[in-house]
Amino acid sequence: VTAPVLPFRVGHGFDLHRLAEGYKLVIGGIEIPHTKGCEAHSDGDVLLHTITDAILGALCLPDIGQLFPDTDPKWKGARSDIFLNESVRLMEERGYTLGNIDCTIIAQKPKLSPHKETIRHNLCRLLKADESVVNIKAKTHEKVDSIGEERSIACHAVVMLLRKEY
Ligand code: CDP
Ligand code: ZN
Repeated sequence: VTAPVLPFRVGHGFDLHRLAEGYKLVIGGIEIPHTKGCEAHSDGDVLLHTITDAILGALCLPDIGQLFPDTDPKWKGARSDIFLNESVRLMEERGYTLGNIDCTIIAQKPKLSPHKETIRHNLCRLLKADESVVNIKAKTHEKVDSIGEERSIACHAVVMLLRKEY
């Protein structure tokens, strides 16, 4: 699909992972102390996967699972900043820069508020973005469904990309 050239584009990302014992919980590249972590082929970083998909979506590009198939042994245990960096590279190649990103992580546990600023700073570092560009929110799932029953963790994000020269 050839994306029309617009001064800005929006993208949406969503991801969900099962939580299981024996895995580390990595969110936004930060290891969060918890009894469970995300089951995944890669490091299972639900936030980085969501942002990667939002950026790719804004560019009308194939999604993270298409670009980095979990059937490919190359991505086994891979750090998810590889996926994020590739989406940023594709964004820059097309002449866009990040306007802003707003994310909502949905986790019954652990409490993420003590880690939110650390995660946000690391995201700004990974994205080479100003502090004003990235926002993170956290919600519980009111103890219902798989997220609320601590069997999964999910994340949503929207991004706005701005064309560098228009
Ligand atoms: O009060 P409301 O139902 O809107 O939200 P909640 O899901 O009960 O979460 C209350 C607050 O706890 C949120 O605004 C977050 O700041 C925080 N929270 C958190 O730090 N870590 C989580 N895993 C979930 C929520
Ligand atoms: Zn994922």
